[in-house]
Amino acid sequence: MYELNKLYNVDCLVAMKRIPDKYFELAIVDPPYFDGPNKRRFYGRDINKLNIKRKIYNVIEDWEVPSEEYFRELLRVSKNQIVWGCNYYDYYLGPGRIIWDKVNGQSSYSDCEIAYCSMHKKTKMFRYMWNGMMQGKSINEGHLMQGDKSKNEIRIHPTQKPVNLYKWLLLNYAKKGDKILDTHVGSASSLIACYDMGFDFLGFEKDKEIYKLAIKRLDDAMNQLSIFNII
Ligand SMILES: C[S@@+](CC[C@H](N)C(=O)[O-])C[C@H]1O[C@@H](n2cnc3c(N)ncnc32)[C@H](O)[C@@H]1O
Repeated sequence: MYELNKLYNVDCLVAMKRIPDKYFELAIVDPPYFDGPNKRRFYGRDINKLNIKRKIYNVIEDWEVPSEEYFRELLRVSKNQIVWGCNYYDYYLGPGRIIWDKVNGQSSYSDCEIAYCSMHKKTKMFRYMWNGMMQGKSINEGHLMQGDKSKNEIRIHPTQKPVNLYKWLLLNYAKKGDKILDTHVGSASSLIACYDMGFDFLGFEKDKEIYKLAIKRLDDAMNQLSIFNII
């Protein structure tokens, strides 16, 4: 079995085979779905107005849309699941939905992202700005620009989600003592939220380069939060 509160550089399908049935109270996952930055490997245009080429994220070419076997294993190892991008997969996951409204204004990007949630049959919504410098002010005022670019979360991944989105999910869907699984960690936003809110977690990331960036981001955040707690 894997040690809790760690991120492993491993294919999640291989890793899940070593996890007992229903070991995790909640899985919050975000598998690849081949769209937007997943395919392009960068945000926005590849050449900006100053004719400078944007950073191309070193994302593996062979990201795979999760197989039926992936979903079977996910449902085996976890009691409840939140699955981002559920609208892209053929696997039927029930009616509950969580919508992340990105408050994108006139942007040509998707206005929302959609997750399956096993814990209700309703559709719930979280509003949080994420485009460019316009990140949300707080979990409760996510529709308001926080106004200070230096406070923006640094992006290390082409499909990075905000830590505050994961915090909102944990606040609303996890109970004290729950163990949380993320099978497709990417930037480690989910794990940072777990650590910050005192939840045990386990994370898997297959791509070596992304794993290195994620583990550094996670370590930095954990150290910073520990210092903050001591102070
Ligand atoms: C959509 S991104 C996740 C983004 C993440 N939610 C975030 O906030 O940064 C999917 C990630 O899954 C990783 N991945 C793809 N296939 C995988 C697999 N079989 N096992 C583990 N990780 C995988 C990719 O390298 C990528 O970083």
